[in-house]
Amino acid sequence: MYFFNGFIIPVVRYHKTNSALLKTILPSINQLCSVHVRNLKNIKVDVVSNKSESAAMFNSKDIITISTKNGPLKFPSVWLRDNCQCPNCFHQESQSRTIDWGHFDFNTIPLAVELKETDLSIEWSDNHKSTYSLSWLIERSFTKEKRTRYRKDCYRFNRVVWNAEDFKKCLKTFDYNDVMTDNNTLLLWLNALTTYGVSIITGTPDDIESSKKLGHRVAFIRETHYGERFIVKARRVTTNVAYLAAPLQLHTDLPYYDYTPGVILLHCLVQTPSIGGETQLTDCLYVAEYLKKNDPETYKVLTTTYVDWNDIGQEDGNHFHSINRAPVLCEDDFGDIVEVNFSQPQRDSHFNVPLEQAVEWYKAMSIFTRLLYSKENTVFFKMNEGEILTFDNRRLVHGRTGYDDDNDKKRRIIGCYLDWDEIYSKIRVLRKGV
Ligand SMILES: [Fe+2]
Ligand SMILES: [Zn+2]
Repeated sequence: MYFFNGFIIPVVRYHKTNSALLKTILPSINQLCSVHVRNLKNIKVDVVSNKSESAAMFNSKDIITISTKNGPLKFPSVWLRDNCQCPNCFHQESQSRTIDWGHFDFNTIPLAVELKETDLSIEWSDNHKSTYSLSWLIERSFTKEKRTRYRKDCYRFNRVVWNAEDFKKCLKTFDYNDVMTDNNTLLLWLNALTTYGVSIITGTPDDIESSKKLGHRVAFIRETHYGERFIVKARRVTTNVAYLAAPLQLHTDLPYYDYTPGVILLHCLVQTPSIGGETQLTDCLYVAEYLKKNDPETYKVLTTTYVDWNDIGQEDGNHFHSINRAPVLCEDDFGDIVEVNFSQPQRDSHFNVPLEQAVEWYKAMSIFTRLLYSKENTVFFKMNEGEILTFDNRRLVHGRTGYDDDNDKKRRIIGCYLDWDEIYSKIRVLRKGV
């Protein structure tokens, strides 16, 4: 038996002789698939240095178990073979798996398993040998705890929901120049954006290129049929209601895209001195969590009813007709909300659900909408010139109160989008300090 960092690892070896010992080590041998039984028929199991049943490594046809004082670490055999780290199977420089699945034997089984120092070595039935460091294996453990941690630390990051009362505490501001020149500030801004879904950049140069430059500091701008950037100002003739001075009701942008833009950057170049022109925000994640807990029926309708969203029009002579179908609240396979779609103007009058479902959906929306607009949940504030409001378009809804343009001072906002894929990637790179 070997002890390494609290791990108890036996060495188990199969030899080409049938033996009763096989059955003692592999009590579930009868459950082995036929391929494994065939492969193991003439194999003798030799426990080299361990008698502890709890430390047996071949305890089922598909799983290899490493016993530790903190409990067993289990790995699918096929996953281990698939994730061999040798140069033939994994290309280090590109950090990519290169095993040819066209010729991969999915029924490969381990013939010998051994721990030396902190490495686990396996001899496979396809005449291959693999070595894995224990720390590498622990990081990839299939335990619920490890999988959850990876999801929260590396895949998506921790989010903190807020209502109107919490908002001031959650709204972090960062200086434009600091974000543009200092990686640590860039990371702090992106962390705030991830955590709270909203953050403000101050001290932005009075230049229509500033928001684009900020976007390029992260990655690249997400283009849409409105171009690389859009200008929000009152227009008498427009194909988008955002370009009217009338109140703009709460919405998410562009739900008619299958991959809805992740983050909106709104640079306030000119703010109206008149009353109005206030930005309104609500954290849908807060409301969704409230519903999930207090009104699961409504929550279920909102997460399962597919709604048709569309945008028909033209921009600079470029005609478009976009349609996407997605629920108002989209969950991932863990039940976390990953996207919110909410836009009264951009909801298609085609509603591709059975009649009864449409009626239920309207009932659910009346509850959800009231919560989004309730004074406990929504906030109003007026952006200042030189600020870029940055917020998660897949989590928050935004709107604006109506305003009157002054003859000398016409409200002017420059907007552009970033995708979360690029932001998450940047955060991971910055956290590694590369
Ligand atoms: Fe918008
Ligand atoms: Zn290999």
